Amino acid sequence: MDVYDAITKRKTVYSFLDKEVSEDIILKLIDSAVRSPTAGGIREYEFIIVTNADVKSEISKVSLTPHIDSAPLIVIIICDKSKMDAVFDEEDSETFCVENAALAIENLLLMASSYGLGSAWIATLQQEEIKKLLAIPEKYKVRGIIPIGYIKEDGEVKTGGPKVDLSRIVHIEKFNSNAD
Ligand SMILES: Cc1cc2nc3c(=O)[nH]c(=O)nc-3n(C[C@H](O)[C@H](O)[C@H](O)COP(=O)(O)O)c2cc1C
Repeated sequence: MDVYDAITKRKTVYSFLDKEVSEDIILKLIDSAVRSPTAGGIREYEFIIVTNADVKSEISKVSLTPHIDSAPLIVIIICDKSKMDAVFDEEDSETFCVENAALAIENLLLMASSYGLGSAWIATLQQEEIKKLLAIPEKYKVRGIIPIGYIKEDGEVKTGGPKVDLSRIVHIEKFNSNAD
């Protein structure tokens, strides 16, 4: 599947088939995530891979998004901002942590899509609860909970992405009023 196909097929899903994601694919997803650009070449994020049913069930509760434990795999991305703080001022450090994680997550979601896998990026979560649950050290911040799996077609999905009218948001040569 080419990149554009992976992009257009990606959609947020919450219901998954009871079908394992192979270790090879999991490794490929993570490998793709860490190939995204990073501010200052600093890769301050790490991943926790969860496949245990009991742990997934607990994660589902603290993610504030019910039922994601149907995913065979949940990836948690965590960030150690102190690595960024060592190089950038406070404002840039905070921004770059968010941006680095976002790019890594998008790579991961698109790679998942290329394998026919569905996913969701869940950022609304109970920070302290999930850290406690997964024994994540204090200095880390959880940036996302990402359930991944083969899509249950009659299950819950999001929009699949809005159909954007490009003529409303693209300006040629200078800002113009074609958006009104
Ligand atoms: C930064 C960010 C945070 C998100 N947080 C959540 C979340 O907490 N819970 C959730 O169900 N979906 C979350 N999403 C997924 C969006 O709701 C979803 O991408 C959007 O509705 C568009 O649907 P699509 O991904 O199918 O195009 C998040 C997406 C982004 C980019």
